[in-house]
Amino acid sequence: MLKIVLGTQNPHKIHEMNLIAKPFNIEFVMTQGDFNPEETGDTFEQNAYIKAEAAYKLGGGELFLADDSGLCVDFLDGAPGIKSARYADTTEHRIEKLLETMKDAKNRNAHFECHLVLLDKEGGVLHKTKGVCRGKIAFEKKGEGGFGYDPVFILDKLNKTMAELSEDEKNLHSHRGKALVDMLIWIKYKYGTSLSI
Ligand code: IMP
Repeated sequence: MLKIVLGTQNPHKIHEMNLIAKPFNIEFVMTQGDFNPEETGDTFEQNAYIKAEAAYKLGGGELFLADDSGLCVDFLDGAPGIKSARYADTTEHRIEKLLETMKDAKNRNAHFECHLVLLDKEGGVLHKTKGVCRGKIAFEKKGEGGFGYDPVFILDKLNKTMAELSEDEKNLHSHRGKALVDMLIWIKYKYGTSLSI
């Protein structure tokens, strides 16, 4: 089993990512110690790098991966985007604020975006991937699964909210699932099963 240190404090993300990684014989482990980097970048990619670098500085492995992701709404010119986690103080308030802001919006198109950055044991960038998932902002919450904006994001492909999907279904269609599968395939080709920590 190849272990990779994942720069996140979000238990939902690590759970989702480990489900995807299992068939690749890869496991993500949490950073040890105080992981709380300031997301000062202007793009998802810059923030993913900042988190990966913070994970690398804490050590605990040979490979360090981090993601930065968020919801981009056309009606809001791409907001909340990189500020998705800070759009309001709690998940509930973020959803309320979004629904209220969008209550008269006709154009409800939106997408989730996920950027991954992988660093080696010297902190050098090995590989980057990106995944996008397109959908629409619902008029009300639906479903109990997932996290964040999932109950108000209707996937174009399935006409269901992300929160109505099983974990496997979400991973098959989500921005994070797409970015991560590309990353895992790259890692497998690069390292095979030879690397272990
Ligand atoms: P990050 O942890 O800094 O990448 O912030 C990502 C934020 O975007 C999360 O806190 C959520 O609000 C939102 N987000 C990212 N991915 C998802 C997802 O898969 N479902 C729902 N919300 C998401």
